[in-house]
Amino acid sequence: MQAFREDQRDKNGIMPFEARHLDAADEQAVVRYFSGLKFHPATQVVETANVPMMHWRGFVLVPDKSGTRELIGNRIIETPENFTLYDLDDERTEFIAYVPPGSIQRGAAIAARGIGTAVSCESCHGAELHGVGDIPYLAGRSPTYIVRELILFRLGKRTNPGAAPMHAEVAHLSLKDMIDVAAYAASLRP
Ligand code: HEC
Repeated sequence: MQAFREDQRDKNGIMPFEARHLDAADEQAVVRYFSGLKFHPATQVVETANVPMMHWRGFVLVPDKSGTRELIGNRIIETPENFTLYDLDDERTEFIAYVPPGSIQRGAAIAARGIGTAVSCESCHGAELHGVGDIPYLAGRSPTYIVRELILFRLGKRTNPGAAPMHAEVAHLSLKDMIDVAAYAASLRP
C-alpha cells in the first residue's frame, strides 16, 4: 500500500488512487483483516500443447463456442472453470491455467537452483516458495499474476526500495523462464 501511495508501483493506475484515500487507521484495519484470512488457492495448472481458442469476456478469457484449439506457444492462458460463478463473484470460482508442456518441471529447477546468473527463488522466497518473513509466498498464486509482476519489475514499474532484489533477479530471466517458474509456483500448495 505504501508503494502504491508513493507512486512506486502502478503509477497512474487505480491502486495509487485507492491507497491515497485510506487513512492510517483504515489501512491497519485492512492489513489485519487480510492477513487473518486463510489462503485457498483457486488455480489448477494444466500442461498442454493445445489450448481452446479464447476471447475476452469482461476481465477474463473464456473458450470460444466453436471448440477450436490452437498451439499454446510461449503463453499462459488462464480461464475461469465456470464463467457464471465467476460473474457472480462467487468465492468458489476455480480457474484453470494452461501452461506449455514441461514448464512445471523446468520451473522447479529454476526455483531450486536458479538459472544462468539468476539465484534460486527459494533462497529468498523459502522452501516450496512458502514465503519467509515479509518476502511473499508464491505457492498456489495465479501464474498470470506472477508473470505480470516479474515483467513489471523488469520494466522498472515497481520501484519501492524493497523491490531491489527482484530487479537484480529478473534481469537474468527470459520470458520462458518467467512462465516456467510461475507455472511451478502456481502448481504448489501453501
Ligand atoms: C535476493 C532475494 C530474492 C530472490 C532470489 C527472488 N526474490 Fe522475488 N521477491 C523478493 C522480495 C524482497 C520481494 C518483495 C518485493 C517488494 O516488496 O516490492 C519479492 C517479490 C516477488 C514477487 C512479487 C509478489 C507480489 O506479491 O507482488 C514475485 C512474483 C517474485 N518475487 C518472484 C520471484 C521469482 C519467480 C524468483 C526466482 C526466479 C524470485 N522472486 C527470486 C526477493 C527475492
